[in-house]
Amino acid sequence: MINKIYLGKQEKLFKRISDESIDVVFADPPFNLNKKYNSYNDNMTQEEYIKWCNKWLKEIVRVVKPTGSIFIHNIPKWAIYHASFLNNLCDFKNWISWKTTSSPPHKTCLFPNHYSILYYAKNKNKQKFYAIRKPHDRCRKCNFLLKDYGGKKHLLNQFGPMIGDVWTDIFRVRHKKKRSKHPCELPVHLIERILLMSTDEGDIILDPFMGTGTTAVASKKLGRKFIGFEKDEKYYDIIIDRLKNIKSNSKIGEYWVSWYLDNIITLREKDWDGISKYYIKPDNPKKIDKEPMVLLDKNLRGQMIF
Ligand SMILES: C[S@@+](CC[C@H](N)C(=O)[O-])C[C@H]1O[C@@H](n2cnc3c(N)ncnc32)[C@H](O)[C@@H]1O
Repeated sequence: MINKIYLGKQEKLFKRISDESIDVVFADPPFNLNKKYNSYNDNMTQEEYIKWCNKWLKEIVRVVKPTGSIFIHNIPKWAIYHASFLNNLCDFKNWISWKTTSSPPHKTCLFPNHYSILYYAKNKNKQKFYAIRKPHDRCRKCNFLLKDYGGKKHLLNQFGPMIGDVWTDIFRVRHKKKRSKHPCELPVHLIERILLMSTDEGDIILDPFMGTGTTAVASKKLGRKFIGFEKDEKYYDIIIDRLKNIKSNSKIGEYWVSWYLDNIITLREKDWDGISKYYIKPDNPKKIDKEPMVLLDKNLRGQMIF
């Protein structure tokens, strides 16, 4: 079933996946917000929705390897139910808060400002995990570091900080030209970040709600394998079309990384020493606050892998 997208309902397709055969599952289900999908009716009662989710969550836990991880993307309203269900079956790692405008504004509570990505390990502390880094936040106009590190500047990692559980640097695909005709397409580099922290080259990633195929695209770009389910034929066609032009080349030198435009947006901590030779750095590390590093040659992107 490897590197294939299956047109059909996850309820049936999960039965074809053996127990403990998948390294990572990423699931981005419909959020039950009455969104306009092509064929899916996104409008269950709360009780129906939770019951439906618990069924596929159980399947996800079944198919993940003992060394595997599970990531569930949803709005906090539903994530609290997913967490209380998963807490009995596997090991909670993080509630990743992805900062972006989520469900519509409410009149009776605060404006929802993040999506949650629940991160679970199938078995306690047996999952693959790699610490990851992102570039420093800088002012768009003057390029200075946004955070004041005072006299500790020279101690900073020159690429940027370790990534924690609040993600503010990845934005939804809004530009009409860049997105498909699907209401919920996720950014590829969001999934790439997740895969860099939880998988190795060749690992198998399953997404039971493929939508436009973002998980398959990210997996392929990073040299991982994928299996996808999608019930809607129109979206299935989008995925197949999208995958045609994707190459397994999200690298710099020998290292898998995640790119956004011409910049690396996520890399593994353990790879930084090797990757740092591709950057021109300020001659004095104390100048890091005003002098960003520059890639030696942007064309190095993906160039040296074959
Ligand atoms: C939130 S979207 C996923 C978007 C995806 N992450 C992307 O970046 O494009 C959820 C998808 O699940 C699909 N879906 C809904 N019920 C399904 C089912 N029972 N089996 C398989 N797919 C289903 C919908 O058609 C929709 O495309």
